[in-house]
Amino acid sequence: MKIPPRSLALGLLAIAFSALVLGRAQAGGSHYFPPVAEPVVKEECGSCHIAFAPSMLPASSWKRMMGDLRNHFGDDATVDPALAARITEYLVSHAADTGGRRYGDKWLRGVSTASAPLRITELPKWVKEHRKVPDREWSHKDVRTKANCAACHTDAERGYYDE
Ligand code: HEC
Ligand code: HEC
Repeated sequence: MKIPPRSLALGLLAIAFSALVLGRAQAGGSHYFPPVAEPVVKEECGSCHIAFAPSMLPASSWKRMMGDLRNHFGDDATVDPALAARITEYLVSHAADTGGRRYGDKWLRGVSTASAPLRITELPKWVKEHRKVPDREWSHKDVRTKANCAACHTDAERGYYDE
């Protein structure tokens, strides 16, 4: 058994909150980030980590990131140009500040979209939501990196980040 304590706690909370979460999702809850619905994006951008929801970053960020996939956080994530264009188009049209996402403003509070941040995990709102998470959890062997959302948010792939 190597279930991290966090998963256990979240699991219990998940049971307690599942009814609530469903209710909120239907009501368009503020912590629902529609998952990638385009198979090609899911495939190309979901092989090394979860396919991050496009509504987690502004359009400028996706353009910047897609403009340099060769230097993608130390990895080479290059795809052929036609495919890259398709992926960019999808991400940009579903970004936090496009596509009519109701809560995009809140998520991007304090972010200058001109600065095109590349990390979700560096957005002020993300940092604020996680400020109570202790260091030892980030370094836990089942987590390792802040970008490993699904380690703690078991429903991340489906767009739910409620606890
Ligand atoms: C070859 C592996 C690989 C592929 C393919 C890949 N990525 Fe990444 N990505 C990484 C690595 C490595 C990181 C850094 C993760 C970390 O900090 O732990 C990262 C980080 C990210 C982050 C920032 C996460 C954070 O810290 O907030 C985003 C956003 C992202 N990738 C989007 C994409 C998109 C969009 C695609 C598809 C075009 C993609 N990735 C394809 C390896 C990959
Ligand atoms: C080490 C575990 C851990 C990792 C990894 C993690 N989170 Fe979280 N996240 C939490 C916890 C715990 C909370 C609740 C914090 C609180 O309520 O004080 C939270 C809260 C959130 C919230 C707010 C949810 C709400 O209903 O208030 C969002 C959105 C979120 N996380 C997104 C992400 C994303 C996106 C990633 C990956 C880029 C990520 N998290 C990675 C533990 C984690």
